[in-house]
Amino acid sequence: MYKNSIKIIEIPKIKDARGNLSVLEKGILPFAFKRVYYLYDVPSGTYRGGHAHKEQQEFLIAVSGSFNVLLEDITGNKTKITLNKPNQGLLISSMIWRELEDFSSGAICLVVASDVYKEEDYIRDFEEFKSF
Ligand code: TYD
Repeated sequence: MYKNSIKIIEIPKIKDARGNLSVLEKGILPFAFKRVYYLYDVPSGTYRGGHAHKEQQEFLIAVSGSFNVLLEDITGNKTKITLNKPNQGLLISSMIWRELEDFSSGAICLVVASDVYKEEDYIRDFEEFKSF
């Protein structure tokens, strides 16, 4: 994997007997986010993702449950990361192919993105991605 192209970032956790609280605010991520979306009710055995972004960066958090993220850069370096902590997230830079799989029952993947939704920013064809 290219240096710094993916990174686990700890999200501050405020512990409390009434329950924990984690907060994402300015300074934690290396980009100012413009969009938040979440994946939920993902049936077991299915997967999400299967694309790269030309420009956008994303930060993925397992706010509930767990799932695996398979990552590959254009040189073919691969890695697999399990996300299962609400106070930890995975930063994915542009030009990284990602697939999300093995969602546990009730898992929720929260995604914080550097830009609004733009279909033209997606590379959805793996061969096209590898030819960049
Ligand atoms: P996609 O990004 O392919 O989902 P994932 O990578 O999580 O599997 O998006 C699925 C569909 O939802 C696709 O038709 C585009 C649409 N979509 C939006 O309209 N806005 C958004 O912010 C996102 C992330 C997706």
